[in-house]
Amino acid sequence: MERQYKRTLVTTALPYANGPVHIGHLAGVYVPADIYARYLRLQGRDVTLVGGSDEHGVPITIKARNEGVTPQDIVDRYHKIIKDSFEELGISFDVYSRTTSDIHRATASEFFTRLHDKDQFVEKTSMQLYDEKAGQFLADRYVTGECPHCHNPRAYGDQCEACGTSLNATDLVNPRSAITGEIPVMRETHHWFLPLDRWESKLREWILEGHKEWKTNVYGQCKSWLDLGLQPRAVTRDLDWGVPVPLKEAEGKVLYVWFDAPIGYISNTKEIYPDSWEKWWKDPDTRIINFIGKDNIVFHCIVFPAMLMAYGDNYQLPDNVPANEFLNLEGDKISTSRNWAVWLHEYLRDFPGKQDVLRYVLTANAPETKDNDFTWRDFQTRNNSELVAILGNFVNRVIVLTHKYFDGVVPVAGELADIDRSLFDEVDSIKESLTQNIETFHFREALKDAMNIARAGNKYLQETEPWKVAKTDMSRVATILNTALQICADIAVAFEPFMPFMSRRLADTLHMGKLTWAELASRDIVKAGDSVDTPELLFDKIDDEAIDAQIDRLARIKRENELKNFKPAEVQPATDFETFSRIDVRVGTVISCEKVKKSKKLLRFLIDDGIGQRTILSGIAEHYQPEELIGRQVCFIANFPPRQMMGIDSEGMILSAMNADGSLSVITPSTKVVNGAQVK
Ligand code: 2FM
Ligand code: ZN
Repeated sequence: MERQYKRTLVTTALPYANGPVHIGHLAGVYVPADIYARYLRLQGRDVTLVGGSDEHGVPITIKARNEGVTPQDIVDRYHKIIKDSFEELGISFDVYSRTTSDIHRATASEFFTRLHDKDQFVEKTSMQLYDEKAGQFLADRYVTGECPHCHNPRAYGDQCEACGTSLNATDLVNPRSAITGEIPVMRETHHWFLPLDRWESKLREWILEGHKEWKTNVYGQCKSWLDLGLQPRAVTRDLDWGVPVPLKEAEGKVLYVWFDAPIGYISNTKEIYPDSWEKWWKDPDTRIINFIGKDNIVFHCIVFPAMLMAYGDNYQLPDNVPANEFLNLEGDKISTSRNWAVWLHEYLRDFPGKQDVLRYVLTANAPETKDNDFTWRDFQTRNNSELVAILGNFVNRVIVLTHKYFDGVVPVAGELADIDRSLFDEVDSIKESLTQNIETFHFREALKDAMNIARAGNKYLQETEPWKVAKTDMSRVATILNTALQICADIAVAFEPFMPFMSRRLADTLHMGKLTWAELASRDIVKAGDSVDTPELLFDKIDDEAIDAQIDRLARIKRENELKNFKPAEVQPATDFETFSRIDVRVGTVISCEKVKKSKKLLRFLIDDGIGQRTILSGIAEHYQPEELIGRQVCFIANFPPRQMMGIDSEGMILSAMNADGSLSVITPSTKVVNGAQVK
């Protein structure tokens, strides 16, 4: 029999407070965690959902330096944006705190002290790169230089993105600080390391033997880490932003952000339950579930558990870590630095009242087993063809008919016909699958199950046709609508974890009180005689204009990024004036310009070259409308031998410059010159 726990602690990865949260964070961590916590609450189980902002780490200090403000200013700004937007999206945190809180600093500090007192660290002195101008040691990521393997001049100290090799900053040829551009120097430093190797066999047994049920991506990553063999990991850093290392000899050092952040789960629990927090962490009857993205697996499955084991005192390890893969955006990796993201706070501004639509789409598309893609067109289709056309339509029809035939009162059902019973049976089996899927973290499938309730309801109305039966048999109509109203009530319950705003509106319309999972599929959730409010559409269509605006915004960002990242081509091998002067470049005026039939790329120009007229074909049809070029002066090569293309002789070549995004721009003299003027 499956073990029954007294309570469940659901944790969510603490997002870095150096930017707002985006749809990748939501799909990976916060929406699934919220679905799970809401479901457990509907089941009447004791559950706490904890979250908070991760406010330490080097990137925050760099952002502050770049903006000329303090790290505290940065985290204050983003903590507020993140917290407010989570709340507006309905992520039902019991606590959402931050790692700069006093309680967290004290908890993290005490954690370190206990490990230190128990001799759980090893100390090492080593040489590290130091930026004298910035006055700080450089994390590997903040050193750039030439890759010793492939000679890519822009490799990072931790990895060369050109050849994929993992590096140490000290491997780089001609290293530079990414903060100031200065050449770093080697300096000696001293740090405290958590010897993960001491915990290797315990971790192997706990994960590889004890948790074969974990998702394959999580289990597989843990296995490959463990198979490689664990090494001691530094848990301190030379930095002035973070939780100070509580040792006299460690002045100027702070806890590594990945040491203090997971302790944030504990301090946040303390914050809501100052007197009873321990039972949420140390009682074996508590089940701990960590929702995270795949880049956090090693910290949650290996490093943090090793910290908890080293601490002792009965700290419980997570029972499951259902990490998700990544969500891409319109085919490209989401990136904060490239602004390639749909930011939650902006979504909430652009689509007011549509929290559930985003929650729905992110769940339907959740990257549970592989990376997935979010596209605005898919978002629109899922809203219009699923939420509006299937779910909203069913509920609306039932409520409208209830008002039409029974003045908005739940009618008394007569004896059930086979079709009514088989609808109820179908909902019974959907509930079973839905429950099983949520319990095993298969939220995409669970959402499909919930949608199947609405699909079954639509089919039922199609087949029973109460609007036709109303002409002959009102008592049968009463049974049909009573049945259909039970299905609407099922929808309010089944969708509560996924779309809580819609669920509450529907529950209010049906005058349902507090929802419970037990009543789902119970066949008499709403009682005959209960009143039903006038219908209000649960969802409305999203038009092309709103979607086009989002797609245009992304296209603009893509162009800006291309411009920012433009790297001029290598300069051609040396040539001489003699060679150049043999190329006869001249100016002429475009007399006519038209598309070449059957060609996507070619425009046909007639040019006044000062001597006469010449025809030139140019491959710029995708960049100009022919009309806009007529009358313009262009530069062309006058002494190329004629060349046939698409059956037309081209007598020269029009010069264009290629922009960062591949677009072409014809070269024009800055003031009008005589046709035939030579370019020297
Ligand atoms: O990867 C991240 O965004 C980290 N800030 C996650 C921390 S999770 C936890 F340990 F707090
Ligand atoms: Zn390389």
